[in-house]
Amino acid sequence: MGLGLKKLTPHIGAEVSGVDLTAQVTRAIVDEVKAALDEHSVLVFRDQRFDDDTQTAFSAQWGPLETTVYKREGDGGVPVANITNVDFRTNEIFPPDHPRLKSNSGNEMWHTDSSFKSVPSYCSMLSGREVPPTGGDTQFASCRAAYAAMPESEQRQLDGLVAKHDYGYSRSLVKGYQAPKETLAEVPPVRHAVIRTNPANGRKNFYTGSHASYIIGWPVEEGRKLLRDLVKKASQPEFVYSHQWRQFDFVIWDNRCVLHRATAYEASRYRRIMHRTTVAGAGPTVDAAGAALAAA
Ligand code: SIN
Repeated sequence: MGLGLKKLTPHIGAEVSGVDLTAQVTRAIVDEVKAALDEHSVLVFRDQRFDDDTQTAFSAQWGPLETTVYKREGDGGVPVANITNVDFRTNEIFPPDHPRLKSNSGNEMWHTDSSFKSVPSYCSMLSGREVPPTGGDTQFASCRAAYAAMPESEQRQLDGLVAKHDYGYSRSLVKGYQAPKETLAEVPPVRHAVIRTNPANGRKNFYTGSHASYIIGWPVEEGRKLLRDLVKKASQPEFVYSHQWRQFDFVIWDNRCVLHRATAYEASRYRRIMHRTTVAGAGPTVDAAGAALAAA
């Protein structure tokens, strides 16, 4: 059908035009958008007036959808996660000390969705239902471009490494937030390959982020330093796309090779209601013995 594609930065992101994803979307269009995601890692669509039903229907064409880890009233166990500062029961902005706002602030660390699950996410889809007039951008960092820029000797040092990813670890970094015990019990730490390869184009990247706690077989602090250094490499300005939201923007990103983070806004003044669907990945990134899979 020929989607319009305009690159947003040299390394990451493209704006896609010429398609209404809220209408019935054919298999051919989904395949074309998937191919664009393999190439550009982040896709921005403007003026996509989704509700939860149409967003779920579109997202489900990509594969099995994850359900939210949070058992918060109104969104636990469903495929649409509400990332918001507005209480849907009262339609009022949460008070500044509300645990929901603390929990949202965890998204301000660079992360990749669901890397704390043994099958991590393939991609996420975020719909801006209400967005603040200023602030609240979402930033995306290319672990693929940052990996490609590393000297070969440094790339080789990452081969075969496996990291422990732990939701409890990343939540412990959020000041003043205590993750519910029952949530932590549902997501025990898991292992992931540090190097991942896109199955469609063979391009490699490193895989890290806030849930990545340490490297298996290494002293904890040494592994943590490496994982943090990789985040620093990916988040250099030349590898980052910052998305300034307009209402009804719809953004899809490839969790296999992209880190993302939310940025601050005046949460006691402006409403921000974002609805996210998350498509599960194809499988684990390590084998049954916990060794890195080459094609993960
Ligand atoms: C997320 O981390 O999935 C949400 C990002 C955002 O709220 O901008």
